[in-house]
Amino acid sequence: MMRVGILTGGGDAPGFNAVIYGALLRAYQAADVEVVGIKKGWKVFTYKNEDITPELVAKYTQVLDISELDDLHTKGGTIIYTSRSNPFKALAKVKEEEKEIRAKEIGKDMASKFDKLGIDALIAVGGDDTCGVAAAMYQFGNAKVCACPKTIDNDLAGTNYTFGFFSGAQLASNALDNLTTTAHSHQRIFIVEVMGRDAGWLTLYSGLSAGADIILLPETPFDFEKHVVKVLKERANTGYKYHIIACSEGAYPCKKSIEEDFKVVDIKKAIEELPKDVFGNPLLNKLNMAAKITKELKDREDLAEFFEKCDANYEIRSVVLGHTMRAGSPNVFDRVLGLRYGYHAMGYIIKGDYGKLSSLQGTEIVPVDIIEGSKKSLVDIHSDLIELRNAMVSVKHKSKEKLFK
Ligand code: F6P
Repeated sequence: MMRVGILTGGGDAPGFNAVIYGALLRAYQAADVEVVGIKKGWKVFTYKNEDITPELVAKYTQVLDISELDDLHTKGGTIIYTSRSNPFKALAKVKEEEKEIRAKEIGKDMASKFDKLGIDALIAVGGDDTCGVAAAMYQFGNAKVCACPKTIDNDLAGTNYTFGFFSGAQLASNALDNLTTTAHSHQRIFIVEVMGRDAGWLTLYSGLSAGADIILLPETPFDFEKHVVKVLKERANTGYKYHIIACSEGAYPCKKSIEEDFKVVDIKKAIEELPKDVFGNPLLNKLNMAAKITKELKDREDLAEFFEKCDANYEIRSVVLGHTMRAGSPNVFDRVLGLRYGYHAMGYIIKGDYGKLSSLQGTEIVPVDIIEGSKKSLVDIHSDLIELRNAMVSVKHKSKEKLFK
């Protein structure tokens, strides 16, 4: 009998349970595999070996019985809980030249915990942080581990799409769509902050899908005057009375804009002073960019006057979609993708093909190297998606101008 652990780490994403169910289906077929849920991500791996008592093991592990989990893939969240624990956290304080030695020590130490936890191998389900830990554990500790790529942010290099992304993007698109009715009724400008720590995929897809009037992404730092103020003026001038700005939580002004345009808010200081998470990422969601832009716009008397001349209201509101984007059950795509990722990852483990990440390549699920696959990927600023974003933002009102002339 082989015992395979499975853990879910990082921010939850619709589809976590689908991966677990996919892994359970494959394990059941193999007949001699027991699946053990490791609760709260990497948390139990942060304990010292001597502190991992049978009581602690009982607290952090749970045998997952497929017969009791019918249709688990349809449920949101994760039944085995998640956390942002990072067993490699100590590395951040180690000198560059000592990093590899220390990483090896941590990796080996983590691999040695399998015995204590009563597992032979492990499937880690998570984003770049969680999969990065699994990759380091494999690289430095020779651990029998595979991974599945999750995150609503869609920012993992090893796959075409992470599960969770399309559910999150759909929720954001719905919200942007729905906000147009209140924006229209009050003739207001809405700045809608969309999740996606340092990748703009969610904002780009939901913004394009809902036809947002301005789309601000972390990959293309915005020029406040050119990309916000000027577009709003042009739109008001062509007769538009309401405006929807989709703003990624990781979006920030370009250098010139930081120095010249932001008067009310000291944006430079705000970015520098951001707290960091346990993986060292600046917590951009704490910046609340939508509120900062709102504050800046509210102070712009010139814009208010311009809007008045165009017989348009100048009222601004900001909305943070935040965790509503991770809430609820996964959509069709994420249910099926999650099932496939989990099913295949369990297959790799059963074959002894460790160090692999289940990856979507076109329409196929293939195993890719866990180290390469766990790296981050952002929106390619030279892609057609950015070209489309630029067209969407500029053509709509310009096309009307032509029509009226
Ligand atoms: O990484 C996924 C994500 O949802 C990001 O888009 C967001 O910045 C972050 O998690 C929020 O994390 P938390 O739930 O820990 O506040």
